[in-house]
Amino acid sequence: MSTANRVAVVTGGGSGIGQAIATQLGRDGRRVAVLDLNGEAADKVASALQADGGTAHGVRVDVSDPDAVARAFETVRQTFGPVEILVTSAAIAGFTRFDKITFEEWNRYLAVNLTGTFLCLQEALSDMAAAKWGRIVTISSAAGQQGAVGQGHYSATKGGVIALTKTVAREYASRGISINTVPPFVIDSPMLREQQLAKKLPPAEVLRKAIPAGRLGTGEDVAALCAFLCSDAAGYVAGQVIGVNGGAVL
Ligand SMILES: NC(=O)c1ccc[n+]([C@@H]2O[C@H](COP(=O)([O-])OP(=O)(O)OC[C@H]3O[C@@H](n4cnc5c(N)ncnc54)[C@H](O)[C@@H]3O)[C@@H](O)[C@H]2O)c1
Repeated sequence: MSTANRVAVVTGGGSGIGQAIATQLGRDGRRVAVLDLNGEAADKVASALQADGGTAHGVRVDVSDPDAVARAFETVRQTFGPVEILVTSAAIAGFTRFDKITFEEWNRYLAVNLTGTFLCLQEALSDMAAAKWGRIVTISSAAGQQGAVGQGHYSATKGGVIALTKTVAREYASRGISINTVPPFVIDSPMLREQQLAKKLPPAEVLRKAIPAGRLGTGEDVAALCAFLCSDAAGYVAGQVIGVNGGAVL
């Protein structure tokens, strides 16, 4: 029996890294649910996949809202069936001097980046535990591995995602479920360009000097690793932190 058409959910699939991951999984034959706060962007990515001969469906969701997440996963189950693969790429990012981070801002980062990941993991894991099979990739960040100046809120949420991933790996590895985390470092995406436009990050020619590979990463660089981690072949890879960073973080 072919397992190529497994049901995959990609959060943040409407833009950047998530879009590249959704596209790659679609090309691999997965039935892809593209989840994003920007419903139009999610629909556009799903339509492009369909035009490419794939099977995809766009769903608008705010991952920080428990009821909305439950509804979105129910829509995926009704459309395609139980969730077998999950990649969590939805997040917000920005720079605020540590002493200027407000309580509200701190809570918003936690709600989207960490609680949003937690809620999607719980939804997907209930399907995966029943099927005794699953693959999950959380997209964390180099900021969660080594900290990042001006990103106290963001770094904390991404460190949390790494710890959450390791814990779920230990709890679910005996049930055929593999979860790993991919922490990228400066990937050329709308999120990165927004920070460059706001002069919070330097332009590409400056950034690439800090990267041994000599270039910024692409969504496709991240998607290639995710596609492997979501495959049947990755069953013995569990709880790992596997960077996509051109050698910048070792
Ligand atoms: N680009 C980088 O250099 C870089 C580096 C390290 C980590 N990351 C991580 O990679 C992931 C993808 O980042 P990207 O660069 O593609 O960013 P992006 O802004 O291009 O994409 C993020 C997507 O998440 C969606 N989103 C935001 N809030 C949401 C919410 N509440 N509910 C649902 N969807 C929501 C956005 O609408 C957007 O489509 C993020 O987790 C980010 O933290 C990116």
